[in-house]
Amino acid sequence: MLSVIYVSVADPALDREDIHRLVDRARVNNRRDGLTGALIYNGQNFMQLLEGPVGKVELCLSAIRADRRHSGLIELRRRLVAEREFAGWSMLYSPLFRSHDEDLARLAANGRLDPEDEQLLANFLALGNGDGGKR
Ligand SMILES: Cc1cc2nc3c(=O)[nH]c(=O)nc-3n(C[C@H](O)[C@H](O)[C@H](O)COP(=O)(O)O)c2cc1C
Repeated sequence: MLSVIYVSVADPALDREDIHRLVDRARVNNRRDGLTGALIYNGQNFMQLLEGPVGKVELCLSAIRADRRHSGLIELRRRLVAEREFAGWSMLYSPLFRSHDEDLARLAANGRLDPEDEQLLANFLALGNGDGGKR
């Protein structure tokens, strides 16, 4: 399986409704395609982990790259994995992640994982183990 984490810059015109629509649609599609993952949003940036069968992840990522609701997508981590980090989550969307809003903005601006981003990433990945969002 392929697992990819990216950050991007959200279209500033997006509102809460838009985000809910996006997540609902993603969940429907991801269930169909055997994809799982997590998405966080700080009002300016997205960070998403998407995992599943290689071909399905690549297909979905090309749709996501072309999506006008965000821009400047930068992959932070891409690897082949034996096990999912978000098994059971068609797309976890966590409002509990707001404490990291500034960290996410810095990460998206830098476009790479620096040592100070490790806590952010660790907490992001830890969302998959708890009940931090809605299934
Ligand atoms: C930040 C972001 C994350 C997205 N995540 C997903 C996703 O996990 N799965 C998905 O199918 N589409 C996702 N999309 C939407 C895709 O870009 C695309 O609009 C969608 O796959 C098209 O689905 P449809 O053919 O059902 O209209 C995301 C879009 C954005 C902007």
